[in-house]
Amino acid sequence: MTELTARPWLAGLAPYSPGAKAASAAGSLSSNECALGASPHVVDAVLREVRDAHRYPDALATDLRAALAERHAVPVDQVLVGNGSDELIFLLALAFLADGGTAVCAEPAYRVDEISTQVVGGAVVPVPLAGDRHDLRAMAGVDADIAYVVNPHNPTGTLVRREEIRRFRDRSPAGLVVVDEAYVDFAPDPAAASAVPLVAGGGLAVLRTFSKAHGLAGLRVGYLVAPADVIATLAGVRAPFSVNRLAQAAALAALRDRTHHDAVRVHTIDMRHRVTELFALRGYDVVPSHANFVLVRVPDERGLVRRLSAAGIAIRPGSALGVPGAVRVSVPGDDGWRRLERALPAAG
Ligand SMILES: Cc1ncc(COP(=O)(O)O)c(C=O)c1O
Repeated sequence: MTELTARPWLAGLAPYSPGAKAASAAGSLSSNECALGASPHVVDAVLREVRDAHRYPDALATDLRAALAERHAVPVDQVLVGNGSDELIFLLALAFLADGGTAVCAEPAYRVDEISTQVVGGAVVPVPLAGDRHDLRAMAGVDADIAYVVNPHNPTGTLVRREEIRRFRDRSPAGLVVVDEAYVDFAPDPAAASAVPLVAGGGLAVLRTFSKAHGLAGLRVGYLVAPADVIATLAGVRAPFSVNRLAQAAALAALRDRTHHDAVRVHTIDMRHRVTELFALRGYDVVPSHANFVLVRVPDERGLVRRLSAAGIAIRPGSALGVPGAVRVSVPGDDGWRRLERALPAAG
């Protein structure tokens, strides 16, 4: 019998480690979830759809893709739906990075961009952030198959303007620039910030998720807007039924409920200002954020994580995200805010 051995490059790979959960959802500020939850219309749609649980979902997510294409004014063959945007990141790696490809990422990067590249035997070229922002000039100097730009960035929350991304696309030798817009709904002007209009120019794709502003993290739906040939390649690589029927129905309902989406956006931006101010008033250095979390530099990372944990609040230690000496705090709801305000000690 042949001895079963994992591919040699998998040895020593550091797996993704999710944020810790607190005892209550209100205190779970470690995974950038949506503090207001999903729309009530989503709940209704899922309850209706579950009656058909015995039937396979639409493999092509026809209705959802059509709705997304209409929303973004792109042809439907430029849209692919995935089991969270994480699945799409893995598909990109399988198709374009396997067997020796190269991805250029900011350092620190969104961990899944790094892990997916390493899993398929590709190489990551890390380019350190400059002043907490992507150093697009330095990234354009790297010859890569894929260049990842997370905008706003995770874990810093910083934003690069669409014009900067357009210039980067023009200068970068990368085969595909992938702009991950998981948090773009929380930017001051999401339509102006989004790189979707640049997809038509070629060589660029945009990732979006329903996990953040639509509150569907537990159902796993994301999508990619990309040139049709990229979508066709990925469609051939994917597992046919990866997006289940509850997720498809939920995403459609979420997309139609603009009122809830706007409420999440307004709440998140308002609460982000309050959290930023709270940390600043207690003497911490906060990175100005455009996302649904803030990165805070702290004198004692582990001490603060422990102290808040004792008060029922889970935050993400910066060390787990490539920024030692910092913590990342997701924007809370009202209950989480009251706990945070009570429990946060002064810096130093
Ligand atoms: C930058 C970024 N991209 C993608 C994702 C994952 O999104 P999804 O839940 O759609 O897989 C996250 C989740 O935290 C993220 O921070």
